[in-house]
Amino acid sequence: MIGAGSRRILITGGSAGLGLALAKKLARHHKILLSGRRSEAEVADALPRGAGYIVADQTDPEISTLALVRGIRDFGWDSLDNAVLNAGIGVAPGGGFDSTEAIRQTLDVNLLAAILQAQALFPLLEKSRGTLTLIGSVVHSGSATIPAYAASKAGLHGLARALRAEWSGRVAVQVLHPGPAKTDIHDKAGFDPGRMRPLFLEANDVAAMMASAIASRRSPATLSWARYLGGGAYLGRRL
Ligand SMILES: NC(=O)c1ccc[n+]([C@@H]2O[C@H](COP(=O)([O-])OP(=O)(O)OC[C@H]3O[C@@H](n4cnc5c(N)ncnc54)[C@H](OP(=O)(O)O)[C@@H]3O)[C@@H](O)[C@H]2O)c1
Repeated sequence: MIGAGSRRILITGGSAGLGLALAKKLARHHKILLSGRRSEAEVADALPRGAGYIVADQTDPEISTLALVRGIRDFGWDSLDNAVLNAGIGVAPGGGFDSTEAIRQTLDVNLLAAILQAQALFPLLEKSRGTLTLIGSVVHSGSATIPAYAASKAGLHGLARALRAEWSGRVAVQVLHPGPAKTDIHDKAGFDPGRMRPLFLEANDVAAMMASAIASRRSPATLSWARYLGGGAYLGRRL
């Protein structure tokens, strides 16, 4: 039940950025299990106290999905209240065009892995009548300079619509579309936002909006300046 506390919450891509900010916020009241591509030793100091961690590198969608499911079982969980599929990358195209390798990597990590994870996690979510949350982006509707990334996020939008209909009454499904936020994703992508960077929202504020959007189960939800200025990081439902 929403608001009951001590939910079992899985967040992929929980070792940095928005996923880690969300985990820190929710760890005050809930049980948290995170996944990421780095080793536990590399990320341990950053994780919230008591959170579990699974190494699942989504560069290989199939193997990482198996690792995720095994890790959840080894952690002793046989159900999930929330799965937040947040892990993502961008790759800035050189000369205006993505290489085949960059396109494949972007789609594998951001989209194919999420589809496989959604399918694999369905039985665990169904046990708790839980919620699957896909983290998209405002660029899902199309954005110059990052076409493969935008396509991967458009794919998540379509996936959410399809699963929301298919799983209706069994597992809630939503897609959240954050606007630009101050995380390291742009640097990792080789993309310099330049003078736009100071205008990006703080990761903690986006994470707060993610938490209340997850509690509301609404879909799709855009988490950008408009929602922030409407009090979205401070008002609304709490998980
Ligand atoms: N920041 C923004 O402006 C923005 C805007 C809209 C949407 N989003 C979306 O929000 C989500 C989180 O982004 P962020 O800004 O928090 O980025 P971030 O700071 O780079 O964090 C991304 C997370 O995903 C993990 N990850 C990357 N590649 C992975 C892989 N191959 N396998 C497993 N985990 C992997 C990262 O691990 P490492 O720590 O090892 O890199 C990290 O934990 C992404 O889906 C992104 O597309 C971000």
